[in-house]
Amino acid sequence: MGYKVAVVGATGAVGREMLQTLAERNFPADKVYALASSKSTGQEVSYGDDKVLTVEALDKFDFAKAEIALFSAGGDTAKTYAPIAGQAGCLVIDNSSAFRMDVDVPLMVPEVNPGSVASCLTENGGRNIIANPNCSTAQLVVALKPLHDAFMVKRVVVSTYQAVSGAGRPAMDELFNQTKGIYVNDTVQPEIFTKQIAFNAIPHIDVFLDDGFTREEWKMTAETKKILDPTIELVAHCVRIPVFVGHSEAVFIETERPMTEKAVRNLLNEAPGVIVVDHRANEGYVTPHEAAGEDAVYISRIRQDPTVPNGMVFWCVSDNLRKGAALNSVQIAELIAAQDIRGR
Ligand code: A2P
Repeated sequence: MGYKVAVVGATGAVGREMLQTLAERNFPADKVYALASSKSTGQEVSYGDDKVLTVEALDKFDFAKAEIALFSAGGDTAKTYAPIAGQAGCLVIDNSSAFRMDVDVPLMVPEVNPGSVASCLTENGGRNIIANPNCSTAQLVVALKPLHDAFMVKRVVVSTYQAVSGAGRPAMDELFNQTKGIYVNDTVQPEIFTKQIAFNAIPHIDVFLDDGFTREEWKMTAETKKILDPTIELVAHCVRIPVFVGHSEAVFIETERPMTEKAVRNLLNEAPGVIVVDHRANEGYVTPHEAAGEDAVYISRIRQDPTVPNGMVFWCVSDNLRKGAALNSVQIAELIAAQDIRGR
């Protein structure tokens, strides 16, 4: 028998991708509930190529009917409804930042730290909640993991170039409408973003903190420590760019042990979830445009950093709606199903 799965935020950019990913990967689901706000009740959303689900209101849903819930409806909604779902016996995989740093909530990337599922179950004193990391963190730790295991990563400097879909469907609409409008001389009126996003780059994602970093930058540091190793020092600079789907990162690492470029290339080539495309020629690297719609974390432009003793530089690109969100959530659900952790 398969699982009964609820997707919360099913009308959103990530929620739609969750439904697509569940269907594509043949997740063993007997029943899938598509949930969103009451204003979306009755709307239809696709589940795979040939099925359509009718959206139900989250605030009226009885989570006792579902065994696994994939949440992507923002932090406030998660804070209200994830505990309700958890208490009803439904295992929540939440894509928001609401629970990520809670000590009793695993923050999981299946290729990196798959071992911690059981600890979150209520019967083990847990809250029935597993958190999905921030999209920029997810793709980064997948690439860092094999290098950390082999060479012990000490420090990471990362600059991100992040797609607008990370800010949800209305943000994608804003880029689309601004881009169209600029060609016909319309006045730009930013709503979701703080400045014009079309034909621009905005060095500001999430709110500013007292130390001058943004919360997005802080998340990359804190989440990498929680998922991979608290000893890793990481400094991030996060920028929103006018790309619809696909986050890019320029990554500079320093390791404890010496590493060669060849060894790094080989390790990344063999790492789960990673594809190296690095030909040092025109077109010999991956851009977000090619990564969109794909599951892998793509690595290009690997080269030694000559300015520090053990340093390497690379370019890391992935579909932020997939590995950064929906795919990672579905992979966690697959782990739960594979371990038959719910004792079914
Ligand atoms: P709705 O479309 O009904 O507003 P995105 O991140 O792409 O903007 O998507 C957010 C998702 O979260 C949407 O599916 C949205 O539903 C859902 N959502 C937001 N707030 C709530 C809420 N209070 N209750 C239920 N669903 C919500």
